[in-house]
Amino acid sequence: MVINGERLISHLKDVREFTDTPGNGVTRFSYSENDSKVREYILDKARSAGCSIETDAVGNIRLGLKNNTDSQKIIVCGSHIDTVRNGGWLDGIYGSLSSLEVMLTLSENSYSGRYGFETVIFAEEEGSNFGSTMTGSKFITGIYGDEDLDRLKDDSGRTLREYLSIDSLPDDIIWDFDRYRAMFELHIEQGPVLDRENIPIGIINAVFGMRTVEITVTGVGNHAGATPMSERFDALSAAALCILSAEKIVSEDPDRRTVATAGKMSISPNCSNVIPESVTFTLEIRDSDIHKIDSYMEKVLDEIRNICADRKCTVSIREHSKGAPVILNEDIRKRMIKTAQKKNLTYKVMDSGAVHDAAMIAPHIDTGMIFVPSIEGRSHVPFEDTKTEDLVTGAQFLLDVITGEME
Ligand code: GLV
Ligand code: MN
Ligand code: MN
Repeated sequence: MVINGERLISHLKDVREFTDTPGNGVTRFSYSENDSKVREYILDKARSAGCSIETDAVGNIRLGLKNNTDSQKIIVCGSHIDTVRNGGWLDGIYGSLSSLEVMLTLSENSYSGRYGFETVIFAEEEGSNFGSTMTGSKFITGIYGDEDLDRLKDDSGRTLREYLSIDSLPDDIIWDFDRYRAMFELHIEQGPVLDRENIPIGIINAVFGMRTVEITVTGVGNHAGATPMSERFDALSAAALCILSAEKIVSEDPDRRTVATAGKMSISPNCSNVIPESVTFTLEIRDSDIHKIDSYMEKVLDEIRNICADRKCTVSIREHSKGAPVILNEDIRKRMIKTAQKKNLTYKVMDSGAVHDAAMIAPHIDTGMIFVPSIEGRSHVPFEDTKTEDLVTGAQFLLDVITGEME
């Protein structure tokens, strides 16, 4: 069976237009108008193929192949459709629309194999609204529960419960994992390895874990012209030193794997002629080893406390979210390697520095992930891109794995 590569690319190009920032990358937060438009776009294609459609209370969608029977175990494939602010046109949506493409191809070929097939679209993977990644998959796996609907708030204080307009979370939000034989997520690499080595397929071993904290440094606001340099307690200068210390400490990792990022900051009062009174920023640390994540985080936080004490600023640290690294299923990995060899595709077994919904599902269902190259290794930015032939190869490989090695 062969997927329709032209159709996949044309679907990707269509939905690229559903953005809040035309001309400056794709900005499509979950629960926004453009998110709804992409959902409707996908549902429309699924309806035309006679698929079953189910949307849960937090907005995860499941589409079932028309020929699925109740007695069959299901292979589920999918990803997310939301983006970061001014993100790229492929992160998440590529895996989602490739899964749709696989489903359309199976449907057109009246496929009836040993396993049934579903496409899943996970809600709020990027955490763009609430700062917590993989929200949809955390609800279906029970990591998040009803109380998180109030805990998760956007920058204006609006809760997830308010977004969803629900009183309580239904019990059936958690998947019946016994229904499933396997889960696959196809994704762009978002890093430089495959592109640099000119390899079309990445087969994933581990998905990095991450721990995120929110740090508030408070100094003394004052007049920017009248306050001598020796009499300042500038919260932003202290925060700058804190961020540089995180960069320095984590850069010394002998394995050169651990990464630290301060990606979000708010400054108060944020006026050019006022010494900043307080600064809040996020700090996340990622690695494939949870002990390293924790030990680097403790080292960095100790140093941040020292820096703030030195500068006579106060510091408060709030744990925001934490996800452990996950090793994906070895049998599935071997099956994917076999398919790559049969199809004469060069592949590389590698880890994922980005987090993915598949890692939340992996403890419950045998799970595999496939990467295609990202040009110049760039992602989460408008530049994000992948060669057309690589996009098509990845989707075809997904179909080949499902119809070949999983039979
Ligand atoms: C998700 O894209 C992440 O790894 O932050
Ligand atoms: Mn993604
Ligand atoms: Mn992403």
